[in-house]
Amino acid sequence: MSIRSRTKVKDALVSTDFDREITVKGWVRTRRGNKSIAFIALNDGSTIKNIQIVADVPGFPEELLRQVTTGACISVEGILTPSEGKGQAVEIKAKSIDLYGAADPGTYPLQKKGHSLEFLREIAHLRPRTNTFGAILRIRHAMSYAIHKYFNENGFYYLHTPIITGSDAEGAGEMFRVTTLDPVNPPLNDDGTINYRDDFFGKETNLTVSGQLEGELGALALSEIYTFGPTFRAENSNTPRHLAEFWMIEPEMAFYDIEDNMDLAEDFLKYLVVYALEHCCEDLEFLNNMYDKELLLRLNSVIKSDFERITYTEAIDILNKSGRKFEFPTDWGSDLQSEHERYLVEQHFKKPVIITGYPKKIKAFYMKQNDDGKTVRAMDVLFPRIGEIVGGSQREEDLQVLDARIRELGLPREELWWYLDTRRFGTAPHAGFGLGFERMMLFITGMSNIRDVVPFPRTPKNAEF
Ligand code: 4AD
Ligand code: MG
Repeated sequence: MSIRSRTKVKDALVSTDFDREITVKGWVRTRRGNKSIAFIALNDGSTIKNIQIVADVPGFPEELLRQVTTGACISVEGILTPSEGKGQAVEIKAKSIDLYGAADPGTYPLQKKGHSLEFLREIAHLRPRTNTFGAILRIRHAMSYAIHKYFNENGFYYLHTPIITGSDAEGAGEMFRVTTLDPVNPPLNDDGTINYRDDFFGKETNLTVSGQLEGELGALALSEIYTFGPTFRAENSNTPRHLAEFWMIEPEMAFYDIEDNMDLAEDFLKYLVVYALEHCCEDLEFLNNMYDKELLLRLNSVIKSDFERITYTEAIDILNKSGRKFEFPTDWGSDLQSEHERYLVEQHFKKPVIITGYPKKIKAFYMKQNDDGKTVRAMDVLFPRIGEIVGGSQREEDLQVLDARIRELGLPREELWWYLDTRRFGTAPHAGFGLGFERMMLFITGMSNIRDVVPFPRTPKNAEF
């Protein structure tokens, strides 16, 4: 399809339909040349490559060409011809050029020299026009599509779970409150606490930290569902791997145990990597050459390796025998930190690792308890350079056991009446996991900061754009 005869740069570059007039539109990356001829590199975001426009300078108004500078948006009508120059197969001999919008060279921030990623974060409204962010955004699109494709092909239904919730799925606190109450003068109860009966929903509500609990309701009716949506965490983690707003993919499956859950996670992750290698090769090659010379090697190695599966107890044992000095403790019962996860993956096993059987006291209330009374059927998938990329578990389907755990942890049991109902009526073994989309994007693109794989990052003290 083409919109009113516009040809995309991507299609023009591979066309052999020469000596015909075509129209391309896009943003000028560079312009060079002399008094008689101008070479304009034009990009419209359809590919990382630019198309070369050749303009015979005397044939165009001087005032027009003066404004064809880096960043300007133009429409070009011309003849597609095989290129005589090196570096491109085709070029367009311009017959007419229309200027949509100039970009003053004195103030347009993206002049052709390379900019630091830190600087580009400050101009997130313009960074999609760089090679790097063009590539990342195209890959992000391809990955989103691949996720839906994978689940659709495997008989999963896409379930839309609420963004505003009255429950805290992870039982972890650290949520963003949603309210229409006046912050200066909120209605109060007699004891001075805020009276939420007058709030929009008549109760306390927050932005969701996970769609899982509602996902379980879907799985216990449709068998296999997945969610793919934004999630929010108000944890003050200023790290290269945490966002306050991130996207999560959460499949939830009835009749799956923890082994089935691991099989699915491994298959799914490999599918996404293969999809990227097959559909995003030009963009990946660019990122490989610019940022991370090991990227393609690493992607290929992950799809060929069987993920190592070990228990938390085995992981602790390996860490303690490693002879390494870690910053955080490695005694049984401590949560694994990023340094531990990366040691296991990058130094010890040299491939992705799935850890199961975590101590129940460091995991969420809904995880299925093992017979030892100490551990739960949790699973974390750890990836090179990333650490935890997936977190999941088999769920506790037994009403009595689940109820006892909720009471033990002092969670608001009345608010979870609907969740408990699924165990009361037709309960079933089930399992699921959550993949952090931006963590996956970090892995696929080889970028090192999560702020660079999402169009507009939300992090502590930063909600610009
Ligand atoms: O391990 P988490 O907290 O698990 C859950 O939320 C479960 N309810 C998932 C489930 O079983 N359905 O988060 C899942 C994944 C992590 O492994 C990580 O990849 C990502 O979400 N994640 C974050 N990504 C970016 N920024 C953050 N602040 C993240 N917190 C978690
Ligand atoms: Mg986790």
